Amino acid sequence: VAVKLADYTPYPFDMDHVELSFELDPDATKVTAELKVTRKAGAGNAPLELDGEALKLVSVEIDGRALTPSDYSLTEHGLTLADVPDQFTLRTVVVIAPSKNTALSGLYMSGGRFCSQCESVGFRRITYYPDRPDVMSRFFVTIVADKEACPIMLSNGTPGDVKDAGNGRHTITWDDPHKKPSYLFALCAGDYDVYRDSFTTMSGKHIDLAIHVDKGDADRAAWAMDSLKRSMTWDEQTYGREYDLGVFNIVAVRDFNFGAMENKGLNVFNSAYVLADEDSATDADFEAIESIVAHEYFHNWTGNRITCRDWFQLCLKEGLTVFRDQNFSADMRSRPVQRIKDVIRLRSRQFAEDAGPLAHPVRPDNYGSIDNLYTATVYEKGAEVIGMLRRIIGEETYRKGMDLYFERHDGQAVTIEDFYKCFEDVTGKDFTQFRLWYAQAGTPRVTVEESWDEATKELTINLSQTTPPTPGQPDKKPVPIPLELAVLDGKGGTDAWMTVLDTAETTITRKAAAGRPLLSVNRDFSAPVRVERDLTRDQRLALVVAETDPFNQWEGVRTLVTEEILKLSEGSQTRPDSELVGAIAAAIRNAGDDPALAALLTRLPEVGELFLEREPADPVALHSARKRLQAALAEALSDTVGTTLEAPSPAPYAPSAEQAGVRAFRGACINLLGASEDKDARRKLLVLYQKATNMTERLAAMRALTMHGECPERDEALADFETNWKHNPIVMDKWFAVQAGQGTAETVAELAAHPEFDLKNPNRVRSVVGVFSTANLAAFHAPDGSGYRAVEDIILKADAANPALAARLITAFEQWRVLEPKAGAAAQATLKRLQEAKLSPNSADIVGRALG
Ligand code: ARG
Ligand code: ZN
Repeated sequence: VAVKLADYTPYPFDMDHVELSFELDPDATKVTAELKVTRKAGAGNAPLELDGEALKLVSVEIDGRALTPSDYSLTEHGLTLADVPDQFTLRTVVVIAPSKNTALSGLYMSGGRFCSQCESVGFRRITYYPDRPDVMSRFFVTIVADKEACPIMLSNGTPGDVKDAGNGRHTITWDDPHKKPSYLFALCAGDYDVYRDSFTTMSGKHIDLAIHVDKGDADRAAWAMDSLKRSMTWDEQTYGREYDLGVFNIVAVRDFNFGAMENKGLNVFNSAYVLADEDSATDADFEAIESIVAHEYFHNWTGNRITCRDWFQLCLKEGLTVFRDQNFSADMRSRPVQRIKDVIRLRSRQFAEDAGPLAHPVRPDNYGSIDNLYTATVYEKGAEVIGMLRRIIGEETYRKGMDLYFERHDGQAVTIEDFYKCFEDVTGKDFTQFRLWYAQAGTPRVTVEESWDEATKELTINLSQTTPPTPGQPDKKPVPIPLELAVLDGKGGTDAWMTVLDTAETTITRKAAAGRPLLSVNRDFSAPVRVERDLTRDQRLALVVAETDPFNQWEGVRTLVTEEILKLSEGSQTRPDSELVGAIAAAIRNAGDDPALAALLTRLPEVGELFLEREPADPVALHSARKRLQAALAEALSDTVGTTLEAPSPAPYAPSAEQAGVRAFRGACINLLGASEDKDARRKLLVLYQKATNMTERLAAMRALTMHGECPERDEALADFETNWKHNPIVMDKWFAVQAGQGTAETVAELAAHPEFDLKNPNRVRSVVGVFSTANLAAFHAPDGSGYRAVEDIILKADAANPALAARLITAFEQWRVLEPKAGAAAQATLKRLQEAKLSPNSADIVGRALG
């Protein structure tokens, strides 16, 4: 049954005060909840409805009077009390079993410790409660636990003193002064090592910071802590936002369904996004930690202080917070490089989602399963929309609108309309048409045509837009598309401006006295659209040379590379064009002073990024075409590769953006060696693997060796890596991922049979099934269906334990309709088999929508 935005009604009661008490026990935790309930004015005689799932109800009392089962109605989904007074205290006692909670939603055990995940609907697996974001309350949380098993007991807000509780137990009460919805509740308890620091806010308040990790891992939390402090400073300087509690805690958890969670004052992280040092983590890991720590911290204002009225408004906090973390990363590192990476991610995930059966608007108006709405569209496209808003109104006005938003809605649960009202009020403009970006699914296409009039020295630019139909939305209206444009004279001269294309079609003319200029469109990827332009290879090459926008420079090369791979895959060309390869190699060499950018230029689009370019998509042909072009590029750049890798890696090691850029280009060269047909490449790679002084290069070498298929050098590296890292699950995930990313269906079977493969650990499952199905598309979409068979059984088993995890894995099938007929039919057959199996509601929702 779908939930609909149009059906929203406010909750009829206020819960201004909540006292929770936990007597922690892995098998039987007793949870007592005391709720102070007040009927809202005008709420009639509505019953009190509380959500609750997988709870064992022990008792219910109203104002101290015990109720009997005839006084309430109890279902698998909740507890309803029909006749309740206008003001009363409800007390419930339930028992839950964290040790049996494999769904990792609610209170569960990970690594022998208690932890929780409540967003979106996990709190109802802890106690009976109105588990919806618009019910905000002040929480007092008492924890009673065994002193030895749980020396540390954490929840939201401010801690009280730890007191003895008899029987070898102790107790603490946490008081969170900020009203919050249930999804921001958290509880973690156990024995941790703690990495501590402190921060002084802009108004001089002292904050105790602590990161709680596995025993022995404390030193590896230093980078996360550094990232946290930089995030706190950035939010003060960029948005004027100060932290609002005396303590800020982070807990790293091994078994976690997502990246991390922004619970008030107690962020819970997947340990892969906390722990790092030069030996065990790549630069990409350091970068991801920095951005996720920032993301969760930024939620304190965009998400926690101001939250969502209902889950349809998810992008209100997620799109905005992704936009904020992307800008933080751009400020910490290189803005153009960050932009390119964000766009690669957007196109490979979100454009694909928008083009397939799971397409939905940034703010959906209905859903079957809320867990399935944590999508690239809500997060990444949601962030792009905020970026367009800022571009259209300008940075200063954007800041004014944000200031008003924080001031007007602090402490409230609000909607996208409330957010835009703030921007309407500071600009006096109407954002009705702009809000279509939230309502219409699908990626707009912008077609660009130009003509030059030599007599008037005028370039006429014709721009038109269409958005293709998506499920349930056959007809689309034009949206306002901010396009950064420029005419270039080829000598560095740039005449740049922005046009907001808000009609189906428009024509612009631009004077260029010096003669016909080159036109640069959607600079800096100013709008999340597909640009279609009919240019020849030589025109595109000329544009790359003349380009003055770093994003479009990369984009120009990428377009050329994409067209070349497509030609090779279709057989209209048998060998990579040497002139083009030479031009790409030259662009890479010219970018030498920005090695991070050079690394990006070296990286060819992945097979998945080429899917949308041609229908039907033939992953096997695309993969082989891509390999041929990569080999040709390796050959053309062999001198650069040689000299780059002969030089030593930067030392002493630092995870700085500058060093990371150097290593990124070294990694790109290692990768080219992996693609090269040089007979000596394997031996060189094994030496690089053995001599590597950091994980970035060690992993790059191991991956490049696996590109060469089975060979003794590859086996030696894999065996060595396993011996060295078998005690470290986060690093071992990389070992699994490298093989799943290159091998075949058989590799998946072998990896799944490995003693360290653990169906209960989401990171491990994703490092095999997730990587295989999203990063090894030629094998996953093998025409004989072997790739699908390799994952089908694992997905079914995962679903029985952890529906959120399985549902996410199934999304890899979303593109079955655009595949070449054999793979397409095999994918469809797999989906149908899954549909007939007994799936969780989460997975059934994805399968049903994917089949259409
Ligand atoms: N709010 C978290 C974040 O973006 C993610 C929570 C994911 N929850 C879910 N049910 N998918 O930081
Ligand atoms: Zn988030």
